Amino acid sequence: MSRVTLSRYLIEQTRSNNTPADLRFLIEVVARACKEISHAVSKGALGGVLGSAESENIQGEVQKKLDVLSNEILLEANEWGGHLAGMASEEMDNAYQIPGKYPKGAYLLVFDPLDGSSNIDVNVSVGTIFSVLRCPNQCFSQNDSLGEEAFLQPGTEQVAAGYAIYGPQTMLILTLGHGVMGFTLDRELGSFVLTHEHLQVPQSTAEFAINMSNQRHWEEPVKRYVGELLAGKEGPLGKNYNMRWIASMVADVHRILTRGGIFMYPRDARDPSMPGKLRLMYEANPMSMIIEQAGGAATTGTQRILDIQPSSLHQRVPVFLGSKEEVERVTGYHQA
Ligand code: AHG
Ligand code: MN
Ligand code: MN
Repeated sequence: MSRVTLSRYLIEQTRSNNTPADLRFLIEVVARACKEISHAVSKGALGGVLGSAESENIQGEVQKKLDVLSNEILLEANEWGGHLAGMASEEMDNAYQIPGKYPKGAYLLVFDPLDGSSNIDVNVSVGTIFSVLRCPNQCFSQNDSLGEEAFLQPGTEQVAAGYAIYGPQTMLILTLGHGVMGFTLDRELGSFVLTHEHLQVPQSTAEFAINMSNQRHWEEPVKRYVGELLAGKEGPLGKNYNMRWIASMVADVHRILTRGGIFMYPRDARDPSMPGKLRLMYEANPMSMIIEQAGGAATTGTQRILDIQPSSLHQRVPVFLGSKEEVERVTGYHQA
């Protein structure tokens, strides 16, 4: 059987699901940028890419060199092709304007250029997360600039979402709304090759992921739920659970997509102004679309993540996602 590359998969999607040519091009360009980021990540100290960039992003986080570099790679790859009306990123305060010398297109691209930055310097998996939206009609103001409002669409409006994981293998996980496909980078060919068709999150699980060091700051429903998981076979859930926490959302979600589990980053009381740590537009929404497309569920504890009407580009939300049974259980505890 001949191998199905990402290009071939996308062309076949145009035939079977009418995927527009400019969306196909967009995904190819993002995938190319991810290959470049993968290359930079894998060079590590040899490429001089480790360590801090000595700057801060809008969220007050110290940027790593690779955060900045990955952001630049994605911007440069995507600005000239005529497929985008604008971009937004974790690493930029405001919407990125397509330079006037290039044509503008129908889509908006939102990304977390490098997820799991705290893992870069210790050689643990990191990734890139992206979300694609349509630019609403008349999204440009009179002076031809694109405002933040154009991006503020609920996750249900995403036309594509995906992530690249830079781990032992580099993989691209993609959904165009017709299931979730996994591609592995073949470094000899230089192509992403379809290796995981129609990924499905198992409905039930015995594995959970949460940063336990925040336990004392959690809200009651989360304390109750995790307490029951820890109680194991002798507790109300009647089975033993295992725990994993990589601190790269991409890597934790990838494990869950592969063998099930529940991922939680709840709201906590450390900073009452922050409703959770993860960002809606470029972390929670794309991951929720992927997980739902793979048969799992994703909520804030009280609401389906994809239904949230965003109020700002860098908005944070609590996240519970993964195997349906467990996400529904912890969501139920928030209602009790
Ligand atoms: P980023 O590196 O893009 O800022 O995201 C890091 C996020 C996410 O990947 C991970 O799940 C979480 O932060 C880890 O948080 P803790 O360090 O609080 O465990
Ligand atoms: Mn992130
Ligand atoms: Mn990041």
